[in-house]
Amino acid sequence: MKILVTGSTGQLGSALLKQLKDLDYQVKITSRRKPEGVDFTWVYSNLLTGEGLEEAVKDVDVIIHAATSPVKSSENIEVAGFEKLLSKLDHLKLFIYPSIVGIEEIPFKYYRLKYKAEELLKNSSVPYTIARASQFHSFVDSLLLSKSFFKRYIIPGRVKFQSVDVNDFAKHLIDLVNKGPQGKLDDFCGPDIMTLREMAELKIKINNEANTVLSIALPGKLYNSLVEGKNTNPLQRKGIITYEEHLRNKLDQR
Ligand SMILES: NC(=O)c1ccc[n+]([C@@H]2O[C@H](COP(=O)([O-])OP(=O)(O)OC[C@H]3O[C@@H](n4cnc5c(N)ncnc54)[C@H](OP(=O)(O)O)[C@@H]3O)[C@@H](O)[C@H]2O)c1
Repeated sequence: MKILVTGSTGQLGSALLKQLKDLDYQVKITSRRKPEGVDFTWVYSNLLTGEGLEEAVKDVDVIIHAATSPVKSSENIEVAGFEKLLSKLDHLKLFIYPSIVGIEEIPFKYYRLKYKAEELLKNSSVPYTIARASQFHSFVDSLLLSKSFFKRYIIPGRVKFQSVDVNDFAKHLIDLVNKGPQGKLDDFCGPDIMTLREMAELKIKINNEANTVLSIALPGKLYNSLVEGKNTNPLQRKGIITYEEHLRNKLDQR
């Protein structure tokens, strides 16, 4: 069984490679930059231009598609580039598409594009599994809690997350490889639902920071949908590593 991991330099791609190196699969990886310190065969490919896609996919059985571009050229990569990729997969046994919980209910451009990609996949002849996860712990950290201003995290504190550890989700995706096409799966969410304020306060406590939290409200439907927790699913607490454990692990690695 030969697996191609796209997006091999990303958060999810790196977590997949870390686990795949100890397993008995043939693995090929692709991205625009070559990841460092990895022994797998790497092929350059670019979803924007289509360059290298044929070479990347030609001799593989399963693809785990961890390539994405939420901000830059997102429409061309998530939808047009994705469609180009699907057109080259007549030989494929399984395409695993990591997606995001609640995307049809959260008014955010990137999520709309991910939903379009899910629909393209469902309507294609490619055998697929769609696995939706909630936001990664590391994503919440790096996007919302990485910078304090004058010793304050100024954040939309009422927004909810059920963040999940990227390594738990990577394991879930690898476990799907031998199961064959499953269609769209139940959500894969973290163990706890927390407000962003609670996450910030936990981070301050664990890291012994001098920061405080200033919670602000924001106008608009996106904010409201996240306050309502449309990005969470209390019935699908499948991840094991909590946000607190993630923070403690990060502290230990410093
Ligand atoms: N982050 C989250 O919280 C989260 C939660 C649930 C699901 N997901 C899903 O998980 C998947 C991976 O997300 P991630 O957070 O790991 O993404 P990421 O860290 O931003 O990594 C994106 C990867 O895509 C590659 N890439 C970007 N532009 C490309 C292009 N034009 N052609 C080919 N490759 C390109 C990047 O490598 P190069 O720049 O080297 O090409 C990188 O390896 C996505 O489908 C995302 O929607 C993410």
